[in-house]
Amino acid sequence: MSHEVFDRVAEYYDAARPGYPDGVYDAVASLCEMSLEGAVVVDVGAGTGISTRGLLARGARVTAIDPGERMLARLVSHAARPGVVVGDGNMLPLREGVADLVCYAQSWHWLRPADSIAEAVRVLRPGGVLAAWWNTVDLGATPDDAQGTGADWLVAFERRLAASCPAYWGPALPQWRVPQVARAMGEAGLSVQEAWIHWVRRISVDDMLLDLRSHAFVASLGDEAATAVVVRERDELRKAAPDGELEVPMRVYLAMARTPEDGDG
Ligand SMILES: C[S@@+](CC[C@H](N)C(=O)[O-])C[C@H]1O[C@@H](n2cnc3c(N)ncnc32)[C@H](O)[C@@H]1O
Repeated sequence: MSHEVFDRVAEYYDAARPGYPDGVYDAVASLCEMSLEGAVVVDVGAGTGISTRGLLARGARVTAIDPGERMLARLVSHAARPGVVVGDGNMLPLREGVADLVCYAQSWHWLRPADSIAEAVRVLRPGGVLAAWWNTVDLGATPDDAQGTGADWLVAFERRLAASCPAYWGPALPQWRVPQVARAMGEAGLSVQEAWIHWVRRISVDDMLLDLRSHAFVASLGDEAATAVVVRERDELRKAAPDGELEVPMRVYLAMARTPEDGDG
């Protein structure tokens, strides 16, 4: 189960994974045609609560759902507590029609495409919004262009990971594509909007290494091999950033859809 991999690295995840830029929440609120203030939100695959905290900070009333108990323990250790349910996004433990927004931050790719979207539609009120987004490093000039013009050190970093981690799936691979959530939403009869939001992450080399440890493709190597990758990358990143600080070009892929209003279609 994918959540067991994350539970093993919950501490690293909590310490070093990035948040999401304002543009993500603004785009979602705009499609909802409402402020997130007071919105009833289901955050599926909430993990340690990065997206949950972003939603709470904007006034949303959030229920965080995740099968990973250690990830959720991190989430509740932070001050602003949402409702928390240990559960599966393919089978949401919620009544129908209760939510304004169901979102998946960095999580939908772990779910079954058709089942998860059907569940989101079931728990959304008419005219409610589904939104899925992913942070990824920005290696290229165009969204799906893996070979592009990103920072040289970052391209080299991702290529080394692709070469040494069999489970790596990311923009260093020519065949990499964003998760096919827009297609799954379309197959459920929804009209989809997509957006890319660019931002720059400023992070120390040490935190970048913690972040690296939290990725499923590193965690799934096992402790010894994961440590070897981290030690190698410590040396490489220190060469790229002698002052110990990195600027990482990032981009968020966001896909959103609204369910029909009562009486539509
Ligand atoms: C990459 S983390 C994303 C966490 C958080 N949303 C964030 O923005 O950082 C993916 C999360 O999906 C969760 N997950 C895996 N399988 C799931 C499932 N069937 N239903 C709900 N969540 C699941 C994992 O436990 C993990 O916490």
